[in-house]
Amino acid sequence: MEYEPRVRSATVESVAASLFDAPDVPQVVGTHSRTRSGPKSARETMALTKDSVIKLNDGNQIPVLGLGTLAPHNVPKTQVKAAAKAAIEAGYRHIDSAFIYENEVELGEAIAEKIADNTVKRKDIFYTSKLWSTFHSPELVKTCLDKSLKALKLDYIDLYLIHMPIGLKVGDALLPKDDKGKWIYQQFDLRETWQAMEACKDAGLVKSIGVSNFNHRQLELILNKPGLKHKPVCNQVECHVYLNQSKLLEYCKSKGIALVGCCTLGSSRDEKLTDPKSPVLLQDPVLKKIGDKYKKTPAQVAVRYNLQRGIVVLAKSFNPEHIKQNIQVFDFQLTPEDMKALDGLNKNLRYMDLKMDTKNPEYPFNDEF
Ligand SMILES: NC(=O)c1ccc[n+]([C@@H]2O[C@H](COP(=O)([O-])OP(=O)(O)OC[C@H]3O[C@@H](n4cnc5c(N)ncnc54)[C@H](OP(=O)(O)O)[C@@H]3O)[C@@H](O)[C@H]2O)c1
Repeated sequence: MEYEPRVRSATVESVAASLFDAPDVPQVVGTHSRTRSGPKSARETMALTKDSVIKLNDGNQIPVLGLGTLAPHNVPKTQVKAAAKAAIEAGYRHIDSAFIYENEVELGEAIAEKIADNTVKRKDIFYTSKLWSTFHSPELVKTCLDKSLKALKLDYIDLYLIHMPIGLKVGDALLPKDDKGKWIYQQFDLRETWQAMEACKDAGLVKSIGVSNFNHRQLELILNKPGLKHKPVCNQVECHVYLNQSKLLEYCKSKGIALVGCCTLGSSRDEKLTDPKSPVLLQDPVLKKIGDKYKKTPAQVAVRYNLQRGIVVLAKSFNPEHIKQNIQVFDFQLTPEDMKALDGLNKNLRYMDLKMDTKNPEYPFNDEF
């Protein structure tokens, strides 16, 4: 299977200056102009468009904005299909999912229908899936991937991530818990799991491989693996104005690893995962005040903030108006003062809480970054 690198029509030079400090770093690229120096003027970052991509360390390209598809279990799956189709129509070319979201049949149908009506070709879509934690045993990695490919009815996935560094007990139960409701863990050496991920890339079943919810120590473990064949292209982590991940971002940039930010809008506040008492991100007065200046919503400011930091942004919506709104973020530019004010909102607040054992040695969020 030959991969045709995506050709974009955008003229994008760069986004975050420090993104280009290391020799092998992700770069925002366009078709004809690249630079290794960061944005010096508003004009440069204004050049970000909905077609902008970041070049990954394996040479592939990831669109800078993706549709998130994680929804609480009581949301009907029909909604995810309609949302993916609406997003493709609105210009999104990047869809983020995971085996554990149990929505890949619907996403595969949505992609197939948009290919059938000539809106896109397969090579225009960048689709991400994730290896679930009950499949960390190296011989099970391809099993999980095959299940995703079969559900999607695709012959390759653009980006495949280890969903979490913590392994769960191998078996039929996807959410293995004991009779007290506590997770049952089963840890494998992440380097061996990674080696099985590399084999999936080498077999052409996935174009790029990466990780999610890894801290810098766990990334370092993979990067220092003897015989490493492919570096992780990205680390997907929760990242928004209340958890801006500045240290992890800096670390990832220095290693040529793209940071893909999820929960950009403060998550869906699923009561199983999020403390209902946590502040509602989209009600933040600073987001509102800055948005008013540009006639933009708090959601649009939250998306734009991370885009200007060189982060690949995921925004979930199943609402057609929100889907359109969240991609209308390429016609305004936050000033350095706006960015500073938004940086000031950071309070290391994590919305997603899987209620895992914080004493598990692979629990990723004890480390500072
Ligand atoms: N790797 C991981 O472990 C991990 C963890 C979490 C998430 N993710 C990925 O990242 C994606 C995004 O994160 P997320 O789903 O947690 O949430 P999110 O994108 O931060 O927020 C989604 C919520 O914001 C609402 N919303 C969207 N656009 C809006 C707008 N313009 N105005 C007002 N409200 C708006 C959505 O409601 P409507 O649908 O009604 O618009 C939904 O309730 C996920 O879907 C998933 O693909 C990955």
